[in-house]
Amino acid sequence: MIFSHLYIFLILLLHPLTMQMDYQVTRTTASSRSVYVGVSSAQKAEERVRDLSRDDKVVLDYPNLKYIDGYSDNKQGVQPFYRSANRNFNLLHGDTFELLPQFKFKFDMIFADPPYFLSNDGISVQSGKVVSVNKGEWDRGGTQEEIDDFNRRWISLCREKLKDNGTIWISGTYHNIFSVANCLTQLGFKILNVITWAKTNPPPNVSCRYFTYSTEFIIWARKCAKKPHYYNYELMKYLNDDKQMTDVWRLPAIVPWEKSCGKHPTQKPLALLSRIIMASTKSGAWILDPFAGSSTTGIAANLLGRRFLGIEREQEFVEMSRLRRLEIENLDTFHKYRSKIKDVVRTEELGAQLVVAEDVPELDLPF
Ligand SMILES: C[S@@+](CC[C@H](N)C(=O)[O-])C[C@H]1O[C@@H](n2cnc3c(N)ncnc32)[C@H](O)[C@@H]1O
Repeated sequence: MIFSHLYIFLILLLHPLTMQMDYQVTRTTASSRSVYVGVSSAQKAEERVRDLSRDDKVVLDYPNLKYIDGYSDNKQGVQPFYRSANRNFNLLHGDTFELLPQFKFKFDMIFADPPYFLSNDGISVQSGKVVSVNKGEWDRGGTQEEIDDFNRRWISLCREKLKDNGTIWISGTYHNIFSVANCLTQLGFKILNVITWAKTNPPPNVSCRYFTYSTEFIIWARKCAKKPHYYNYELMKYLNDDKQMTDVWRLPAIVPWEKSCGKHPTQKPLALLSRIIMASTKSGAWILDPFAGSSTTGIAANLLGRRFLGIEREQEFVEMSRLRRLEIENLDTFHKYRSKIKDVVRTEELGAQLVVAEDVPELDLPF
């Protein structure tokens, strides 16, 4: 039987009003990792960590309980690369594994389009030309253990940033999606749906030795098995001609007008993100994307009156994200882009009837 040891480091961060403390919990196994949990007692920290490691037969190593001096919640440490004037669009430039633990904030929803690990030197066809399938170094695969470890670490960090009634959406193909599903379940999430995105315009299969790839999957899961999540059932039904919306979504792949600020190799269409956001959040909701790329999530969020924090490592893509956000500062462009998204146009036709208008929460980001 394999026992993992968890060292709990008590971090002095007493908030005067809430008496909330932060614990950094380092789990040492073959690949050690740290998890930060903001809870009110050591006992709750233990419960949370057990919850995160449910299947691992964890032993908490109390003699190693340590107090770490000099830790702060890094309120000033994290500086956004870009923030829109109305603070609804925030972009951090850097590694999500390093940045996520450095601030305290809970989001209503998370969308993540992580590396799929499909850059294996294969070929595909794009606009009639044979091209490499390689997306970038960030998408190169490792062993199955490495992929699982990667997914487990970032999903665990995201879990800490999600409200208890919040939900997470994670996209993928067969290369990563089974690993993602296992990690979600192991970390205590409840899977709600696996959406099949059936692309209406997939690229042809060059080898002609198997079926054309035309789908991606998007897992939708909620944080807590027992905490109800938000689903805009009526709106989804309305958008599906008054029949219950199914888990197969026929939507085109990215179209040229979405690339006005440059090309990201795996940019998602705004139509896809808009449906996800409308289905699972209310106006004013805070949405996190830990692998933001060109920030399709943020653009869709802002077009729909939601707020966004994205994290992206590559300079080229944070710059592209900033340009995309600047584009929709122009009201004509803002409305033009809304008018190109079918679900948004149909929702507008309803007037305010089904669009839930809630007070925008007072909370703000910690930087
Ligand atoms: C699949 S793409 C996301 C594309 C995005 N959904 C869009 O529509 O543009 C994944 C992105 O994650 C970034 N990335 C990979 N590992 C990262 C990490 N550890 N921290 C931050 N960003 C990372 C890559 O640079 C890449 O732009």
